Amino acid sequence: MVQVKTFYAFNDLRNFSYLIFDDQSGESWVIDPYEADPIIDYIKKNALNLLGILNTHQHHDHIRGNAPLIKAFNAQVHKLHGKEVINLNETTQIDPLDTPGHTTDHKAFLLKTGTGPWSLFSGDTLFNSGVGNCKNGGDLGMLYKTTLNLSKLPRDTTLYPGHDYLKRNLEFALSVEPDNKSVREALKLIPEVSPELRVALTLGHEQEVNPFFRLFSEQLRKQLSFSEKSLDDEAIFFKLRTLRDHW
Ligand SMILES: [Fe+2]
Repeated sequence: MVQVKTFYAFNDLRNFSYLIFDDQSGESWVIDPYEADPIIDYIKKNALNLLGILNTHQHHDHIRGNAPLIKAFNAQVHKLHGKEVINLNETTQIDPLDTPGHTTDHKAFLLKTGTGPWSLFSGDTLFNSGVGNCKNGGDLGMLYKTTLNLSKLPRDTTLYPGHDYLKRNLEFALSVEPDNKSVREALKLIPEVSPELRVALTLGHEQEVNPFFRLFSEQLRKQLSFSEKSLDDEAIFFKLRTLRDHW
């Protein structure tokens, strides 16, 4: 069976790193290593074989752990070309998705199992109840299109983002949709455990609580001073992201 191990870095940026591994063959891939030591320990303790490193983008906090992992296991950073996929076993593969926006060459990784559900490793594109910013080499128009594409993935897809911004994003979501009961509920339900031990949430849940998936919401449009008749979703997305930048 293919499993996902989450590593949370207790840093200001609240980074997540992930290890995907097949518990039969021991073959494993790491995504966006921040702190290498806990990942190295885990690989050694579980006798896994690290086949390579995948980076969603080149910001320092997503590649920081590359060098020590390369040194420890002689692994390489794997750059996926075109429609190349990584086959983990006969029924499971990692598909790269072009997800420009946060940076113009950002990738996400979709872990697809034969029986489902799938898992999305979204880097700094999609977060729990939010999306990435475009302040460091990004493009807002691209991020809008990428977010729209990701919102069309199956609702039971599990989301594994690059950072833990859950609480603050939910608080922002409530400020633009004060009557959204799902957001209130989600804020109450944030477990008092380390973020790496939380149960990962689904894209179906994001449809209920993520304002960037909810541009249709009348209340959100009113809060942003858009008339109810306005149909320009892209303009709403831009305004929402700008508001979040200064929130
Ligand atoms: Fe980033």
